[in-house]
Amino acid sequence: MPKPRARLAVLASGSGSNLQAIHDDLVARGASAPAELVLVVSDREQAGALERANGWGVTAIWLPRSNANGLGALLAQHRITLVALAGYLRLVPPDVVRAFRGRLLNIHPTLLPAFGGAGMYGQRVHDAVLRSGATVSGPTVHFVSEQYDEGAIIAQLPVPIRAGDTAATLAARVLAAEHRLYPACVAAVAAGQVSLGTDGRVHGASTLDIDRAAPRARNSH
Ligand code: GRF
Repeated sequence: MPKPRARLAVLASGSGSNLQAIHDDLVARGASAPAELVLVVSDREQAGALERANGWGVTAIWLPRSNANGLGALLAQHRITLVALAGYLRLVPPDVVRAFRGRLLNIHPTLLPAFGGAGMYGQRVHDAVLRSGATVSGPTVHFVSEQYDEGAIIAQLPVPIRAGDTAATLAARVLAAEHRLYPACVAAVAAGQVSLGTDGRVHGASTLDIDRAAPRARNSH
């Protein structure tokens, strides 16, 4: 019997360009898409991510910070089986992290474990990379654990740092790499090709095909 499609929720605080990339990739995969985007949640009422979801007719819910503990119930209500954090600036409650072990992903705009942890987001993180003198950066997709940015790594995509890079130019190139990497990881976990073992290790990551996404998905941001 074919594996049922994962019911995907994306949690985002910002513009939602990664959400867009994931959505476009699933649309491009058509009948063979291993997941269906059924819910978008944001802690910010004005988040571009909610606007995008509304435009697609996907349920878009503002979960105010004061109600952060309501996340587990919301995911259960929508029978969510896979969660992708895409620029979500709130800590996911520990009960949700535990319930979604191996089915909760995050993307971070540096090569973890470098430049991870609390407070490492936005321009600040790219500033820190440039100040360090690093010659390469790039996004990391990982399973979420109870510590910020410390879960098992699924995949990374190196982005060389160029002479004259500013936090803004580096952020833009890393973001373009995120849009290639994240949809592939979400689809692979949804399909069961990549998984988190009971040993805490990621299995199947060598099967990832990060540029399989349709050209439309890559050019629509
Ligand atoms: C990305 O840089 C992601 O790595 C980080 O937050 C940003 C979200 O951007 N976690 P967007 O809202 O997907 O455009």
